[in-house]
Amino acid sequence: MRANSRPPRRDAARRASWQLVLGGNGKMSEVHVHRVQPAWKKNALIDNDTYLKWYADSVKNPDKFWGKHGKRIDWFKPYSKVKNTSFDGKVSIKWFEDGETNVSWNCIDRHLKKRSDQTAIIWEGDNPYDDRKITYNELYAHVCRLANVMKKHGVRKGDRVTIYMPMIPEAAYAMLACTRIGAIHSVVFGGFSPDALAGRIDDCKSSFVITADEGLRGGKPIPLKDNTDKAIEIAAKAGTKVEKVVVVRRTGGKTSWVAERDVWYHEEIATVKAECKPEKMKAEDPLFILYTSGSTGKPKGVLHTTAGYLVYVSMTHQYVFDYHDGDIYWCTADVGWVTGHSYIVYGPLANGATTLMFEGVPNYPSQSRFWEVIDKHKVNIFYTAPTALRALMGAGDAHVTRTSRKSLRVLGTVGEPINPEAWEWYFNVVGNGKVPIVDTWWQTETGGILITPLPGATPLKAGSATRPFFGVKPQLVDGDGKMLDGVASGNLCIADSWPGQMRTVYGDHERFVQTYFSTYKGKYFTGDGCRRDDDGYYWITGRVDDVINVSGHRMGTAEVESALVSHEKVSEAAVVGYPHDIKGQGIYCYVTLMAGEKPNEELRKELVAHVRKDIGAIATPDKIQFAPGLPKTRSGKIMRRILRKIAEDDFAALGDTSTLAEPAVVDDLIANRQNKR
Ligand code: WTA
Repeated sequence: MRANSRPPRRDAARRASWQLVLGGNGKMSEVHVHRVQPAWKKNALIDNDTYLKWYADSVKNPDKFWGKHGKRIDWFKPYSKVKNTSFDGKVSIKWFEDGETNVSWNCIDRHLKKRSDQTAIIWEGDNPYDDRKITYNELYAHVCRLANVMKKHGVRKGDRVTIYMPMIPEAAYAMLACTRIGAIHSVVFGGFSPDALAGRIDDCKSSFVITADEGLRGGKPIPLKDNTDKAIEIAAKAGTKVEKVVVVRRTGGKTSWVAERDVWYHEEIATVKAECKPEKMKAEDPLFILYTSGSTGKPKGVLHTTAGYLVYVSMTHQYVFDYHDGDIYWCTADVGWVTGHSYIVYGPLANGATTLMFEGVPNYPSQSRFWEVIDKHKVNIFYTAPTALRALMGAGDAHVTRTSRKSLRVLGTVGEPINPEAWEWYFNVVGNGKVPIVDTWWQTETGGILITPLPGATPLKAGSATRPFFGVKPQLVDGDGKMLDGVASGNLCIADSWPGQMRTVYGDHERFVQTYFSTYKGKYFTGDGCRRDDDGYYWITGRVDDVINVSGHRMGTAEVESALVSHEKVSEAAVVGYPHDIKGQGIYCYVTLMAGEKPNEELRKELVAHVRKDIGAIATPDKIQFAPGLPKTRSGKIMRRILRKIAEDDFAALGDTSTLAEPAVVDDLIANRQNKR
């Protein structure tokens, strides 16, 4: 552990105590329990007694609780029904079903009376000299104009619009413009390849795309429009024709152009009015689709709907970050992921917040960038991922300590388990031991944060996401589905619905039921392993399925395998995750070649490039091991447990290999492992 990642013992003793617990990694360790400091409590929205009372009310009588909190958003037509959900049989989830509202109207129009000149979005460019502020008034005009452009080109309520954008305000305008007219957006992360983009365009049959000429990250251009052109060709072959592409000019870089189909954003918005009436949407009308990886098959289109989602993300944004009027709030995620949807755009804007949108990367132009941006814009609430923290921690404390960070009041993390060393570093070095950390556990499917501390209420333990948010009923079950009480380790399920939950897999409700509700009948299964300690705190241990988490990005091992076997020289592939110091998990690939093919360095590079082309840079394999054979049971099932152990360099504990068809392949795998310590 780094010497300076903990405060001196005496200092610590004043504010904290130590506890021996069985940590998320299954090992006993000493845990630093950080008491809620008086300063955190002082103006906090929720103290511990309030948390306990509200939580008890919320699970005892969800109708009453959410009936009250549903009013935090504005409605064209108020709801009379609150909760109508079932996790059994066909699974049906409806919240506030007879109410009518509109998301963009809630995120913009209703604030105009009080906040028209308040900054809604602070945009911080990749280049530190490049920034912009957009007031709520300006946001209104931008969103209305783009909504009118979409209408002019025939986009109607219920149509799917694909957004493939860099982190520029126009990405938020595009999302909000869709919600204004009732179109369903599907944002695709700008790091995905043309193939991956094409698959997502085709899956939801989207004929309208909004993109930019190029993105810019760490000084390097990203050819978004060229990628879009390629994707449109691929999608056309699959049977989906894209009719219109709106292109934002970001860099002015050269791109190809298809007359008739492609239009410039800046030219189009000049032709329409800056006012557009928000469409009256039913509470359960679809809001957006977001593709995410699972254990099997291609990515699923997670579908979120209008009202429940907005109520949930605005409420969690307010209470989890203890958001107060006037706070400057910054979440470093990309809008291509759910964190960007819920906690850069919808949650903060529904609350009339000032939300910072960052185009760049943590280490450009220097390792101090995050902290410089915090000082420059006086950021009060900062929300980032453990992978970024580990990388910055490795660069040394001086990059942090040379900045002030005095404005900080709440720190947050999300995306993967945070190791206690990184947590303590975040707390002591970034927060100077004075700022609470909220370690928020949630998923694309959950829409918003489910397990988290509240800054003024929850004593903190480094590495634990602590306690459930209002209305959330976590349960641990063993492999047979038996519910485990008290201190226990098991699979994390949620026993009942909350308003922000996904409603279905777009176009495939059966897959929704199968994936989330069939493993443990009547419960939502998260795919995560988890431990509950004797304070009732939850410690997420990571995925128990074939999903890996690389730098906080979720990836299905099946997707990487299918990319590998699509290479002509590959006959079979198996992919597993292994612990990686910075990324959390790395991608380890076992590859069996076609008969007659010889393994060599060049082929290894070719396979890495092949996967990058097929999925995108985020799927770049870290290790490729050429394997003459994979360990299989006599019925032909690959024994991933063994592959995981070898990738972790932990082959002494391979467990029972007697059911293997050919035990000898294991010796070869061990001898040629790529991760020798
Ligand atoms: C993991 C991101 C531990 C978890 C919002 C989950 C976490 C998956 C945490 C969802 C956390 C997210 N502690 N693990 N605080 N937050 N995860 O869909 O494995 O991209 O199932 O949503 O990330 O990833 P997704």
